[in-house]
Amino acid sequence: MSKELQSVIFDHPLIQHKISLMRDKNTGSKEFRELITEVTMLMCYEATRDLPLTEVEIETPVSVARAKVIEGRKLAFVPILRAGMGMLEGALQMLPAAKTGHIGLYRDPETHQPVEYYCKLPGDIGERDVIVLDPMLATGGSAVDAIRQIKIRGARSIKFMCIIAAPEGVEALSKAHPDVQIYIAALDECLNANKYIVPGLGDAGDRIFGTK
Ligand code: PRP
Ligand code: URA
Repeated sequence: MSKELQSVIFDHPLIQHKISLMRDKNTGSKEFRELITEVTMLMCYEATRDLPLTEVEIETPVSVARAKVIEGRKLAFVPILRAGMGMLEGALQMLPAAKTGHIGLYRDPETHQPVEYYCKLPGDIGERDVIVLDPMLATGGSAVDAIRQIKIRGARSIKFMCIIAAPEGVEALSKAHPDVQIYIAALDECLNANKYIVPGLGDAGDRIFGTK
């Protein structure tokens, strides 16, 4: 069995500040979407730290230079619908050449178990390093299931990026997929009786899309 990777939890003041604004129930959908985009961009900085570089020769206005550029690494973002879509714009702004796959899952309101309704991944997913996007890691059921579906179709490596996680979700995901590096912008206290993250930010999909 592969070694369990340590989760990365962000303590950067900019990220913490923006998440506090997202948590506020008086923050409307427009501002919420802008904030989730900004937080995702900041998280990408750390989540792509291991991207390999290669040297090229370029001409500056002054001289010829050996300069570093990201090696042609194949990446794919896979947002978990719906709420994962809120993180896609920020991710693609940082890495515009990445392909995008989609996995549709919703949590049954009674059982809290994930229900699958869609999966469309790039045809060459087996050659790609995948970053799964979902703002909320609550029980972990949705993330565990989405990553299982990606593994069935193949991927070179998988990372999972979320804005807010509950300890229960981190434990479940780490146990089910110990090879997946988890990036968490804020680790919260617990889940409530309805399996919502406390203090959390409520229903991420509703906050992004203005539903409910
Ligand atoms: C939310 C969230 C995650 C899931 C997390 O989606 O975006 O996908 O819940 O909960 P879990 O860790 O307990 O599985 P939701 O089911 O509300 O669907 P939506 O994004 O379509 O609103
Ligand atoms: N899904 C959400 O959108 N929020 C939670 O707190 C838990 C699951």
